[in-house]
Formats: sequence, C-alpha cells, structure tokens
Amino acid sequence: MKPRLFSGIQPSGNLHLGNYFGMLKNAAKLQNKYQSIFCIVDLHAITIKQDPETLRKNTLQTAKHFLASGIDPEKSILFIQSSVSEHAELCWILNTLTKTAEMERMTQFKDKARKNKQNINLGLMSYPVLMAADILLYDTAIVPVGQDQSQHLELARILAKRFNKQYRKKVFTIPKPLIKKRIQGSRLMGLDDPTKKMSKSAPSPNNYIALNDPPKLAAQKIMRATTDSGDQIKTGQKKPGITNLLSIYSLLTHTDGATLEKKFQNKGYGQFKKELSQVVSQFLANYQKKFQKIDDNSAAQILAQGAKKAKEIASQKIIQVKKIVGLA
Ligand code: TRP
Repeated sequence: MKPRLFSGIQPSGNLHLGNYFGMLKNAAKLQNKYQSIFCIVDLHAITIKQDPETLRKNTLQTAKHFLASGIDPEKSILFIQSSVSEHAELCWILNTLTKTAEMERMTQFKDKARKNKQNINLGLMSYPVLMAADILLYDTAIVPVGQDQSQHLELARILAKRFNKQYRKKVFTIPKPLIKKRIQGSRLMGLDDPTKKMSKSAPSPNNYIALNDPPKLAAQKIMRATTDSGDQIKTGQKKPGITNLLSIYSLLTHTDGATLEKKFQNKGYGQFKKELSQVVSQFLANYQKKFQKIDDNSAAQILAQGAKKAKEIASQKIIQVKKIVGLA
C-alpha cells in the first residue's frame, strides 16, 4: 500500500508557467508514488473576500489545469473542498480544541490581517484549523508543503495529538511534511522583474507567461523580457534575467544549464530569446491542446466522482469522531 498524500490548492485564475513547474507538474509526479488526494480549497478561499462568479470559475479552471498537467482521476482523487461537508464539520470540532492565542500568533494570519484590516474575520483566524481538518480526515501520512505552510502543518500535528490524548484513542494519524525538493531552477522569476517571483498579481501581464496565453503573445513576452548588462548567455548572480530565461529553456527542453550555455555561446541575446520564444510557444500550443480537450462538463464530472470517493473516506472518520466526542 502506498502512503496517503493530501494536498490542498487555492483556486486561482490565470495560472502561469511558474505554477506549472512549482506545483502542477510536481503533483502529477507525486501521484505515482503516493495514494494522492488533491483538494481545491474553496472554503479557504472565502476567508478573503471573493466575487462569487469568479470563485466558481477559478475553482473549475484550477481543476482543469490539474487534469491538463497529468493528474489522472484513476490514480488520484481530485475534488472541491466545499462538496465534502465533513471538512467544515471536523473544522468546527477542532476549533473547540484550539486556543485563540495559538491562532493569533500564526505568522500567515498576522500577515493577512495586516493586509486585510477591513476583513479580519473568524474564518481567517481559523484557516489553519480548517487545513488541519482537511489533512486529518483522510489519515494522511504525507503533506507536501512549502516553507510558508510548515507552521500550519505543525498545527495539524499538534491538534491530532491533542485530540488523541484528550479522548485517549488513536483517532488521527500524525501527518508528516514532505519538504518540496524543487527541481533546480523551477522557481521562476518575473520576466519584467527577475529579482521577484513570477506572479499573476504583478502590475504588468508581461511579468508572467499564463498557461492560457496565446502562444504568439507568450513569444512577445519573452522577446520583451528584461535582460542584464553584457551579452553572454550565462547564469550568474549578476545576470538574474538571463538566468531566469535559461531556467525556462532548461525546464521546457529537459536540457541542463551547461549544455545550454555552450549551445548559445557567442549567439547574443536576440538569437537566444528568439529560440526560447519558439520553445515556449510550442509548449503552450501542446498544453492548450490538452487543456481544451477537457470541457467544463467532463471536468465537473471528474470532480463529482472525486468528491464521492473523498466522502467515503471522510464520512467514516467523522462518524468515529462524533461518537468519541459524544455527538452521536
Ligand atoms: N493553505 C494552503 C496554501 O495556501 C492550502 C491548503 C489548504 C492545504 N488545505 C491544505 C495544503 C491541506 C496542504 C494540505 O497553500
């Protein structure tokens, strides 16, 4: 039996090449090694104010990107958090085991509270408890986490132990983090500002290559990308622009950096960018072909199937928890 892995992903519009290499492609790899559950966390999303239509659309889009990137519904469970009500139910029970002081000192809460002074709601504070519920419902062994989520995973471990201790029963499995080993160079930087991470909320769309950008537009974005002084195609701290473009080239063609530096020796920025823009537009054309094959209805069907499978597991756990707590 493969160990069970759970990963939650915020619904988001306009996923880009940085998300592809940082998350989507990784997920497709993980599903071969683990019994994987991928959950699109719309209940987490509403802790920040959302436009309902946009949220609905982004949730489905995100699911389609997972499918286009190779998540196989035969191997993995892919579903939307709000369609399995056990998540909210377990969250409530775990809320009663959580100190408010514990939540007030969470780094991400403090950060989000500072940025959303108008909307410091209870859900925002309880966000990590909902995340613990997500994980603990499924006897999850492994959770892939980046640095920003490790404090939240620690809370899930603490709450699992606290519950087990209080009720003197091993109800919850204690999850372990899988610290994401990044594919070298897979943290893509902004095309117009290679000192910062590629981001869809950057001021200009020239910052990122969206997975749904028309290939021609993407090629233009590459041609416009910020380069560095000098004229050598080489990686280095003083060459963040070229280093980033080389990373993209390398990831898309599975070629290592040294080989690329050699290939483009004495070729100049213009030539290099031209070849890279061809590589990028070819990739997008292929990707979008896969994406377009997944129509909204079939994606919705896959999600419904996923929810059904998830619910089978989660409802067992909730029945057990309610009995132990005295709710049933
Ligand atoms: N908080 C996570 C993030 O923003 C998303 C998430 C929700 C999650 N539930 C989870 C991640 C459970 C891992 C496991 O990235």
